[in-house]
Amino acid sequence: MDVKVLGISGSPRRHGNTETLLDSFLEGTKEGGAESRKVILRDLNIVPCRGCNVCHKDGTCILRDDLETVFDTILSVDILAVASPIYTMGITAETKALIDRSQYLWARKYKLKTLYFSREHIQRHKGLFISTAGQGWDYVFNAAFPAMTAFFDVMGFEYYDNIIANDMDRYGGIRGHPTALTEAREKGKKVVEQVRKLQGTESESDQQHHE
Ligand SMILES: Cc1cc2nc3c(=O)[nH]c(=O)nc-3n(C[C@H](O)[C@H](O)[C@H](O)COP(=O)(O)O)c2cc1C
Repeated sequence: MDVKVLGISGSPRRHGNTETLLDSFLEGTKEGGAESRKVILRDLNIVPCRGCNVCHKDGTCILRDDLETVFDTILSVDILAVASPIYTMGITAETKALIDRSQYLWARKYKLKTLYFSREHIQRHKGLFISTAGQGWDYVFNAAFPAMTAFFDVMGFEYYDNIIANDMDRYGGIRGHPTALTEAREKGKKVVEQVRKLQGTESESDQQHHE
């Protein structure tokens, strides 16, 4: 079975620091033999959650836009990388819109109890947060982590790792960073290998089960 990877770019700037870091990660996943694709939120027709709470009753979202396909794709992949630069100490509006719109799945999971991910499923599905920030503060990403934790939890992904690079202003952008792009590429290759190993274990135990 092919390992499937989705990279979601939540930066409004095309080919900027964050999307470039995401691209390196995706290249690494391809080197690892995965089938990888990228979605650019800025180019999609997306509206934010309206808080109508209809999903709390029937588990569906009343909004019809490009996020319907994005959520279907997320649920079909093994590795999900969400990339957002830090905007005013948090994630971008595009990324937050995506996360808030997963509320219909939150409702299925926690209110209606019609959606359940097994421990094995979560272990086999890896989520990564990719980010860049202008300032050099260590804590500049701190406000973004809880939103990512909540999102990966709702989507059935283990929050596997962060690929983050601060101090972009000093480095003159991600290409001036001494290690970030190489590390992103290596992490991409490594996570694919790890998921493939887990999938191998699963098919072996399935075979034993059927014997
Ligand atoms: C509206 C806006 C708000 C920003 N807020 C912060 C911030 O709070 N802290 C920080 O370190 N950098 C901040 N930055 C800088 C970006 O995080 C940084 O330049 C990042 O690498 C941009 O990524 P991109 O090239 O993918 O757009 C901000 C940039 C913009 C445009």
